Amino acid sequence: MLVLDGKIAAAAVKAELKTQTNALSAAGKPAPHLAAILIGNNGASETYVASKVKNCEETGFKSTLIRLEDSVHESELLQTIQLLNDDSDIDGILVQLPLPKHISEQKVIEAIDPRKDVDGFHPSSIGKLVQGLPTFIPATPYGILLMLEYFKIQTKGKYAVVIGRSNIVGRPISILLNSNIPQGNCTVTVCNSHTPNLTEICLQADIVIAALGKPEFVLPEMIKEGAVVIDVGITRVSDDTAKKGFRIKGDVHFESVAPKCSAITPVPGGVGLMTIAGLLKNTMQAYLQNRP
Ligand code: GUN
Repeated sequence: MLVLDGKIAAAAVKAELKTQTNALSAAGKPAPHLAAILIGNNGASETYVASKVKNCEETGFKSTLIRLEDSVHESELLQTIQLLNDDSDIDGILVQLPLPKHISEQKVIEAIDPRKDVDGFHPSSIGKLVQGLPTFIPATPYGILLMLEYFKIQTKGKYAVVIGRSNIVGRPISILLNSNIPQGNCTVTVCNSHTPNLTEICLQADIVIAALGKPEFVLPEMIKEGAVVIDVGITRVSDDTAKKGFRIKGDVHFESVAPKCSAITPVPGGVGLMTIAGLLKNTMQAYLQNRP
């Protein structure tokens, strides 16, 4: 059983990007520049954004973090996005989700210039993805593809089951795995919370992508011997014995599922690290496409 270590795969992607930023710097060119907007004080969002900023620094990217109050008006957020759209020194824009309830996520996503949509959430980006056209692949699905590529996991002709149909992970990864791309060409079933016989469906799968956000939902009786299991879950579960008062749990019960797998991602230290690698690759792509 192979543990798909996100630290190792992400380091390889970041090393490649660092080589690129070093070359840009040597040529007297500016660095790719990511702008992140963080609203409010959600602990998990704070951690993710801090990690995105740190990873930018490590790979020679510029980053700008814009923090807005929880009470910010939607119009102010939209204006902030417009300023970033118009700023030729900004290559990529991300607004960390989830947003406060009074702000329309859809309006915010659609306000981002598709040329700077490094999260790949804009309908134009998703539409291109569905049609198999070049675009920004949402960071987590992109990270999964990079992980499969790094560890040379074969996907062609395999049966993949995706648990979860979110716009951020489940739906796009299901389309990508089914697409005619190097880490694609799978037959794919996408399950949701209404799917009957989920266990029977998962038991058929060569590749299981668990992206439903329910800690330790996937158990060994759902997994075929030798399957590849990709765990996208990152849930904070209260635990008084932990230093921070919580532990991070994946969607898969790792200890019991791992012995049945040919390969499995750990949580933490798996897909989460690859998400940032995907985001940085998208930012470099935006830079190369948009800078004259
Ligand atoms: N919240 C959870 N995942 C993501 C992501 O990939 N991008 C953004 N912007 N917010 C998120």
